[in-house]
Amino acid sequence: MSKLVEPHGGNGLNALLAPQTERAEELARARGLTRVPMTSREVSDVLMMAMGAYTPIDGFMSEADWRGSCLDMKLENGVFWPIPITLSCDRELADSIHVEEEVALVDGDSGEILAIMEVTEKYAPDRNLECEHVYRTTDTAHPGVLKVVDQGEINLAGRVTCLSEGEYPEKYPDLYLRPAEARAMFLENGWSRVAAFQTRNPMQRAHEHLVKIAIEVTDGVFIHQVLGKLKPGDIPADVRTRAIQAMIDSYFVPGTVIQAGYPIEMRYAGPREALLHALIRQNFGCSHLIVGRDHAGVGDYYGPFDAHHIFETLWDGALETRPLKIDITFYCNKCFGMATGKTCPHGDEDRIHISGTQQRAMLAEGAPVPREFGRPEVIEILREYYAGLS
Ligand code: ADX
Repeated sequence: MSKLVEPHGGNGLNALLAPQTERAEELARARGLTRVPMTSREVSDVLMMAMGAYTPIDGFMSEADWRGSCLDMKLENGVFWPIPITLSCDRELADSIHVEEEVALVDGDSGEILAIMEVTEKYAPDRNLECEHVYRTTDTAHPGVLKVVDQGEINLAGRVTCLSEGEYPEKYPDLYLRPAEARAMFLENGWSRVAAFQTRNPMQRAHEHLVKIAIEVTDGVFIHQVLGKLKPGDIPADVRTRAIQAMIDSYFVPGTVIQAGYPIEMRYAGPREALLHALIRQNFGCSHLIVGRDHAGVGDYYGPFDAHHIFETLWDGALETRPLKIDITFYCNKCFGMATGKTCPHGDEDRIHISGTQQRAMLAEGAPVPREFGRPEVIEILREYYAGLS
């Protein structure tokens, strides 16, 4: 009998989506409540709560949880949590809401009511403190920092009851797996040692190599990609999922990987986000998370292996899911194959590195992309996408 890691917090999965039978009635009630519009990041957090990916939290964080998460990576009750999950609004709206009032949480773009929250606290967070501790910078050129700086002045905390999962389940019927479903799938496959591969990019050969290293030492790999909002220039999820499927179909042994997606929005918080990614994967039943070079980073804000080192700062019992730390991967002309910084003795001049920017330029201009870098089946799909853009 295979055994998966326990959901975070030790009390089973905590999916906040109301039972189907109660949703219509709750929705009717929500229509009569004060509406709090949410940013796309807040929407993604509600959807993560709905599916149980944020187990064990049961809503948006109080000031004590926010502070603990920023400073010590701990909730008030001592449970490990590396990035605060908060809801903000402007002061005027906050003043019109009283503590213990129920409010309707609404997608700020579509106007859809996604949840009801019972407000238990209102507080003004120190946004600079959050950025310094979570993002290690207050530079608003950092896309994650900018979102914190731009958010409303007041945070509203409280228990959330989710009433909808938004458009994702319909848009990605085969990819949208909830933690309970992923766990059932792993058990069905007889997997207990499962590595997650977090990604927001189509898979090139470096990614393929990371996943194959993990397959060697686990029962299987969960290729788990971001379906939420990305920064400008990132490849959209529908193109990426097709490119990843093309890679799986042609270059993986059937039954060794499962491709899925989840509704998180990237914060690009580098090391802290690597920890959040591991916590989330524990809820999905993954014993390991692949952590490569500059995991969840952006620009030059983080060292290439900061996301490896941060796992060493965790205390015993903080998290069951472990990082599978892998050095930079590349094709080496002298090795005649894929290698990593740990296994290849040759110099940079023998290693094929192509940045995202260079790749975009090659694809947009119709220039050939070396086979050492990308698989032709994947390149083809990306080329079509870029041709459509221009
Ligand atoms: S992200 O969520 O970490 O931003 P991305 O798609 O860029 O997603 O990377 C997915 C995973 O692959 C991360 O763990 C990242 O560290 C790793 N990675 C990407 N490229 C390389 C590489 N060339 N060498 C080693 N690790 C890599």
